Amino acid sequence: MTASGASAATNSQQWQAESYARNARFVADLARPVVDLLAPKAGEAILDLGCGDGALSLTIAARGANVTGIDPSPSLIAAAHAGGLAAVRGDATALPFTGCFDAVFSNAVLHWIQDPDAVIGCVARALRPGGRFVGEFGGHGNVAAIVVALRATARRYGLEETEVSPWFYPTPAEYSERLRHGGFHVDYIELIPRPTPLPTGIDGWLDTFRAPFFQSLPSDKHASIRQEIIDLLAPSLCDSQGNWTADYVRLRFAAHLAA
Ligand code: BEZ
Repeated sequence: MTASGASAATNSQQWQAESYARNARFVADLARPVVDLLAPKAGEAILDLGCGDGALSLTIAARGANVTGIDPSPSLIAAAHAGGLAAVRGDATALPFTGCFDAVFSNAVLHWIQDPDAVIGCVARALRPGGRFVGEFGGHGNVAAIVVALRATARRYGLEETEVSPWFYPTPAEYSERLRHGGFHVDYIELIPRPTPLPTGIDGWLDTFRAPFFQSLPSDKHASIRQEIIDLLAPSLCDSQGNWTADYVRLRFAAHLAA
């Protein structure tokens, strides 16, 4: 994946390998351009921050790099081990590495972490001089329609904004500033609108990415609230054939430390 390099402060988001593989395999499948931006070289030591079940780590390893994965989810780490990846359980805001890696890579993870500066600091420490930090995550405006539908519904039940949208979706200007403050030179950063087909529809997406929202609501209301959200979203995100496409906006970047 990697939707799960998040810290313990991830608003109770829990990742299960089986449902992630069923509903969110596209997350890794669509990440090829980020791997290309990383341009892994044979023999490089690379950390996959939020490796999930290791699908992308193995793609990077296939290019000859020595990849280590880290992820907080026991279920996903077990899946990564089963696939043959060297992976450890850990938190992106407390990485246990100093000067070990030529590059740190991260896909679809950093939007889950509420303390981006702590992550940037840990990544800088984990890298060797001249090391690269390359990744992609949700950028400003990501899944805006979905967030508005959740918010409209949640207001009636007094839910907090963090239960609606626990994500960090910065602009390029904001994230560049944070990277520079953390000691990085920014080589590339871009916001990329990417309408994203949802293979298991909005139901599968809500199950995988926003389960805690429903857990915060009265259980006898789950079905009707879910239907209300689907009805709000369908005119914008569902076509006449019943195919759902989410309004993803990605923030892709490449940065490096001084040599
Ligand atoms: C993800 O982790 O892939 C994700 C999370 C929230 C919105 C969109 C994508």
